[in-house]
Amino acid sequence: MTDKEIRIKYREFSSIEEMNPEDRELAAEAIKAMSGAYAPYSHFHVGAAVRMSNGQIVRGANQENAAFPSGLCAERTAMFAAGARYPDKDMLGIAIAGGVMGRLAKAPVTPCGACRQVMAQYQAKSGKPMSVIMISADKILKFDKVDDILPLIFDSI
Ligand code: THU
Repeated sequence: MTDKEIRIKYREFSSIEEMNPEDRELAAEAIKAMSGAYAPYSHFHVGAAVRMSNGQIVRGANQENAAFPSGLCAERTAMFAAGARYPDKDMLGIAIAGGVMGRLAKAPVTPCGACRQVMAQYQAKSGKPMSVIMISADKILKFDKVDDILPLIFDSI
């Protein structure tokens, strides 16, 4: 028997200005995407922006439904739109922002398990790492690949 440890590296920024220009642009798009949220139940508006390998950015926002499971998170809304719009391109990164009444939340919005699994699928499809940026009013976190937020991802060990 051997004890094993999984280590996760990520970067923390204190403001969007600290990031490189590409990530800054993606983060700004995720914040803008919050305005597309339809959240009559939670009132929590989440925006996501996906960077494609052709340089295009595709936005998504959470869409809620009276029949709860029929709604969808911002991340999957953005990724499914991106996959449908650019089926032959790769998803190189996703940024996520959330808050109430257009104001960013204090804690970064961390994607749910189902969204992480969908990220893993598109990362596997492209064979290239997909970075994940989580934005809040106080700090921004950047993970270089989906594996970092979904340890023991299928087929990774
Ligand atoms: N939500 C997202 O869209 N993405 C996340 O990462 C966390 C949660 C949405 C789902 C629901 O519409 C609302 O935020 C409150 O949970």
